[in-house]
Amino acid sequence: MEKIKVGIVGLGRLGRKHAENIAFRIPSAELTAVCSVVKEEVEDIQKKWGIKYGYIDYDEMLKNSELDAIFISSPSGFHCEQIIKALEKGFHVFSEKPLGLYLEETERTAKIVNKYKDKQVFMLGFMRRYDSSYAYVKKKIDEGIIGKPVFIRCYGLDPANSMKSFLKFAKNSYSGGLFLDMAIHDLDLARWYLNSEAKSVWAIGGAYEYPEFKEINDAETGAALVKFENGTMGMFLAGRNCAHGYHIETEIIGTKGTLRVGTIPEKNLVTIFNDNGAIRECSEGFLERFEQAYLSETEEFINCILEKRQPDVTVEDGVNATALAYGCKKSFETGELVNF
Ligand SMILES: NC(=O)c1ccc[n+]([C@@H]2O[C@H](COP(=O)([O-])OP(=O)(O)OC[C@H]3O[C@@H](n4cnc5c(N)ncnc54)[C@H](O)[C@@H]3O)[C@@H](O)[C@H]2O)c1
Repeated sequence: MEKIKVGIVGLGRLGRKHAENIAFRIPSAELTAVCSVVKEEVEDIQKKWGIKYGYIDYDEMLKNSELDAIFISSPSGFHCEQIIKALEKGFHVFSEKPLGLYLEETERTAKIVNKYKDKQVFMLGFMRRYDSSYAYVKKKIDEGIIGKPVFIRCYGLDPANSMKSFLKFAKNSYSGGLFLDMAIHDLDLARWYLNSEAKSVWAIGGAYEYPEFKEINDAETGAALVKFENGTMGMFLAGRNCAHGYHIETEIIGTKGTLRVGTIPEKNLVTIFNDNGAIRECSEGFLERFEQAYLSETEEFINCILEKRQPDVTVEDGVNATALAYGCKKSFETGELVNF
């Protein structure tokens, strides 16, 4: 069987999971090279999993002509530069979200992606589109089961118990803040489900339990109200301090019905009955909740390369989602309504 040889950059919270999927769960892919600025991360994975090449310099990895594809899971501020370099060297590219942190760099990247799109696959990690529940919702909307969608309500809340590691992540790597880093998944889903781009946004937020967020000019919890070009509406709540776990919930209200995903963000189908009552445990984090989606999106990337086609999620989705998330950030920072 032909195997697509992949080199991955970024071996942190998510990169290690992607690396593991490529190395062990996709028969038509081979994890041939790993790269991180942290030498110990590279050596650890190379040693444990027997990976042929290890790099602490991304440009060095791009000189490896054995590779077919580059998988980017480095901090968000590096995505655009690393995407462009990999495409110009002739590789297929998968990049984690967001495409970039500024509209200008995402538009520049889109031009390069489109220049090479006949020969090289480009995919962006909006993995929720590959989650079985979210994909099912899209199918139901397209079948017309709720009539015309008019309103979307999204909760994207990180668990409070990962605050310590999150604050380290937020301080050490420029993530773009709550709206570009966290809410962007919901903003992309809204564009996908409502089939429209944002017209205006008003966003608010604050630091309620952890003043550290104010110090880095970010919100611990934030909310945005968006009007879309086709007249539909969206309400987005994003936060980092959710007491009961990782709460991802989405509701789409249409003219003839409602679809809802994750009303209670259950860990699994188990109910515990004890002296506290009947308990449904909650999902603990993104790696647990979206395990299937991370694998499915990577399988899709590899299949696109083998079948010489592009995935449904496009670079323009990346540009427009960044524009909307950046609008939320701007509105939060200025207190003003932002028009697109
Ligand atoms: N799709 C999702 O659900 C999801 C979830 C978490 C993170 N992400 C995205 O994944 C990316 C990585 O996030 P994370 O949480 O794994 O971050 P992280 O900080 O845990 O890991 C970053 C990794 O990149 C390496 N790195 C840093 N700068 C580098 C450089 N210049 N060249 C090469 N390697 C470099 C670090 O050493 C580390 O291995 C971010 O863009 C983030 O937005 C997506």
